[in-house]
Amino acid sequence: MTTKRTVRIAMNGVTGRMGYRQHLVRSLLAIREEGGLDVGDGTVIWPEPVLVGRREHALRALAERHGLDQATAVSTDLDAVLGDDAVDIYFDSQITLAREEAIAKAIAAGKHIYTEKPTATGLDGALALARQAADAGVKHGVVQDKLFLPGLLKLKRLLDGGFFGRVLSVRGEFGYWVFEGDWQEAQRPSWNYRSQDGGGIVVDMFPHWEYVLHELFGRVESVQALVTTHIPRRWDEGGAPYDATADDAAYGIFELAGGAIAQINSSWAVRVNRDELVEFQVDGTEGSAVAGLRNCRAQHRSATPKPVWNPDLPATEVFRDQWQEVPDNGVFDNGFKAQWELFLRHVVLDEPYTWDLLAGARGVQLAELGLASSAEGRRLPVPELTL
Ligand SMILES: NC(=O)c1ccc[n+]([C@@H]2O[C@H](COP(=O)([O-])OP(=O)(O)OC[C@H]3O[C@@H](n4cnc5c(N)ncnc54)[C@H](O)[C@@H]3O)[C@@H](O)[C@H]2O)c1
Repeated sequence: MTTKRTVRIAMNGVTGRMGYRQHLVRSLLAIREEGGLDVGDGTVIWPEPVLVGRREHALRALAERHGLDQATAVSTDLDAVLGDDAVDIYFDSQITLAREEAIAKAIAAGKHIYTEKPTATGLDGALALARQAADAGVKHGVVQDKLFLPGLLKLKRLLDGGFFGRVLSVRGEFGYWVFEGDWQEAQRPSWNYRSQDGGGIVVDMFPHWEYVLHELFGRVESVQALVTTHIPRRWDEGGAPYDATADDAAYGIFELAGGAIAQINSSWAVRVNRDELVEFQVDGTEGSAVAGLRNCRAQHRSATPKPVWNPDLPATEVFRDQWQEVPDNGVFDNGFKAQWELFLRHVVLDEPYTWDLLAGARGVQLAELGLASSAEGRRLPVPELTL
């Protein structure tokens, strides 16, 4: 006999790219399609989304498309939803600029918090949220989806198995061409390219790099970045031209605890000549690996070729063929869903959960220091954060 434990989740920003596709459809609705989250002790956690937003017709259309109850699953009144004792969790995937205020309200209303990154636009705000949540005794989690990607899980397996020996360096390449919006529609929202609206590649991507580097290789101890706007003029969703005031590329170097050095290029003005939209090459004394979203290839010390530099001759070997595919050895679920499941278990079963608002604040801190480093033209230490 199973007990159904319903968890009501107010989802704010669910009409957006991330909120709809990854969090509603691929995570919470996917869990429902599987019959709920069976936690193994006879309890099944049943997520019950409440779609919150500004545009009622858009929310109703989503509810209808996915068979959610129009009367109870849609609201344009955030305060009323937060005042409803039946709501357990507040989830935020709004534009970044709108997040801090809404989360602060939700904590004050005693809700558990789950949120997209970055948690705030500045470190002070991000830390204030972490402190407020700790004082209120609510549970809190921040999306760190890249950790749950198959490629990075396989990379983690290599690290845990001691494959690399001493890790020397990490090289990350992230990015793709985001169309300007004039002759082909842009494939990302225009607010991303306006700093006054919370946009910018550093604010967007450095939080990801912080937790990836920290969790896999060591805490980021210093940052040196060169940040720029390669494409200064873009066209918005309505076809109107605007000044792209936010940075669209960042070239960063990070010193990590333990001595490894990471270098990550992030750009929305680069054309892809790699296997995946993000790739990390890790070089260690015993072996190297290249991990992307899904795949991971490795080359052991014993199988390392010995190229000799001679520009007079064509390359004598196909270097990319000399890597070995790391097998899946398991089934990987959607990363967002996997993290949601852990958070739901944290809320219901009190299981430990480390990816919280303080972890989120570390991401915001790295973004802030990355921008400062670029503006000042120098390398900056990254102080350890405490509550
Ligand atoms: N984890 C990841 O990999 C990842 C990837 C992309 C974006 N994100 C984060 O997710 C958040 C949402 O990004 P997105 O790409 O889904 O954006 P989006 O523009 O597609 O969606 C934004 C959502 O916020 C709502 N919103 C609330 N207040 C608004 C306002 N004042 N103006 C405009 N929209 C408003 C919109 O209606 C919409 O539902 C951002 O904070 C972003 O950093 C995370």
